[in-house]
Amino acid sequence: MQQRKVYIETYGCQMNLADSEVVAGIMNSNDYGITTDAADADIIFVNTCSVRDNAEHRVHQRLQTLKKYKSNSPGVVIGVLGCMAERLRTELIEKGNIVDLVVGPDEYRRLPELVENAMSGEKGIAVRLSRVENYDDIVPLRTEGISAWISVMRGCDKFCTFCVVPFTRGRERSRTLKSVVEEVRRLNDSGFKEVTLLGQNVNSYRDGDSDFADLMKAVSEVDRSMRIRFTTSHPKDMSEKLIRTIAENENICKYIHLPIQSGSDRILKLMNRTYTRAEYLRLVEKIKCTIPAVSLSTDIIAGFPTETEEDHKQTLEVMKHVRYDGAFMFKYSPRENTKAWEMGDDISDGIKVQRLNEIIELQQKISLEQNQPLIGQTVEVLVERESAKSSDEWMGRTDANKVTVFPKGDATIGDLVKIKIHKVNSATLFGTLEKRKVATLQESIPLEYWNAGINRHSRHLKSYF
Ligand code: 5AD
Ligand code: SF4
Repeated sequence: MQQRKVYIETYGCQMNLADSEVVAGIMNSNDYGITTDAADADIIFVNTCSVRDNAEHRVHQRLQTLKKYKSNSPGVVIGVLGCMAERLRTELIEKGNIVDLVVGPDEYRRLPELVENAMSGEKGIAVRLSRVENYDDIVPLRTEGISAWISVMRGCDKFCTFCVVPFTRGRERSRTLKSVVEEVRRLNDSGFKEVTLLGQNVNSYRDGDSDFADLMKAVSEVDRSMRIRFTTSHPKDMSEKLIRTIAENENICKYIHLPIQSGSDRILKLMNRTYTRAEYLRLVEKIKCTIPAVSLSTDIIAGFPTETEEDHKQTLEVMKHVRYDGAFMFKYSPRENTKAWEMGDDISDGIKVQRLNEIIELQQKISLEQNQPLIGQTVEVLVERESAKSSDEWMGRTDANKVTVFPKGDATIGDLVKIKIHKVNSATLFGTLEKRKVATLQESIPLEYWNAGINRHSRHLKSYF
């Protein structure tokens, strides 16, 4: 019998990208092939995000366009995975009748069995959340590139009042330090040059006596030439020990994503963020003193219930004070069943848009000002892929996570190169190749990593959610 093929489309955060690689790993080890072409697939999975209403809306629209694959060949199985599956459950199967499977984030091991059943006409729902599932023993099937995501903890116990994640991804649980280090070693052996440790709340990682700082140290020791990144950190769990660990280990990137959400103490309290503006700013000072070259980014929500013009101004003030290198900025989107849902949604869309625009404008100005001093300087860049705009140019990132574009010269993907910067804008550095530092690594990556593709839909999204 011909091998059946799975197509996976991913929406949302990096956790979802990592989960899609876990799903690909599970299906592949059960004799399914992976395809990057939906038209060629026997099974179509859409891995979804619920964090804001527009993320869900996009998926609903996509499900409509997927209908054609089902009418062309009625045997095709369509599965909705991830946070929307967890949140909407039966509703997804009942609505429109094109969805055969609804599978939440903790039930991916059951996918082969559920797919088999669906092939014989039995629709399936699996949305149990687990206190222990962390897919520790699953080898994710990764795709192209020299940079890998590794999810080290799952779920969230913080219950920020606006956020649906604790309900869709369940309680926090961590993988063992040993299994994470082994995975990093394997990736290093197969030529990967950068890993990003992932968790909704990555710095609350814990394995027995080991905390996130211990994990970072252990991972950074696997190969000192491998770059280590991590996201997302909650300010509450940003310990002094972790800050020192970042400072002391050269290959841990000096870049911290530290969501503030709002600059107003009143709103922070309503959001249940568990810190005040002063506490957050003290933490930022501590980070900047300990890691002088640090680059910081954040998440900000505009128009949380009851937010006044004065609260909004305080957010702008904090942004000016911290001077983030970048930010993900969102309009508040009410989510059913969260605490904030009960607070109503009293800020009009017009005001939300206006405040969000002010926030974006200010951030763009600050990002540009942060980048300008780099003109004339030489930065170290890990070459990731061809620039989206020109096939004559490479794109890579600096240690501080700044996207850098430059003419290819004799550099290739996987090289760590020195780039002299001659132009910047708020989002990108432009430069010329000064020195190729290391040999190409691409050849050393096993073929199966390049051949087995899963669609990286989120690459094309502007924000990470
Ligand atoms: N509305 C708007 N933004 C939200 N986020 C989470 N929930 C919501 C919501 N209901 C944002 C937060 C979080 C990021 C991942 O998404 O800023 O840090
Ligand atoms: Fe959501 Fe807050 Fe948990 Fe982040 S820390 S996932 S915003 S509840």
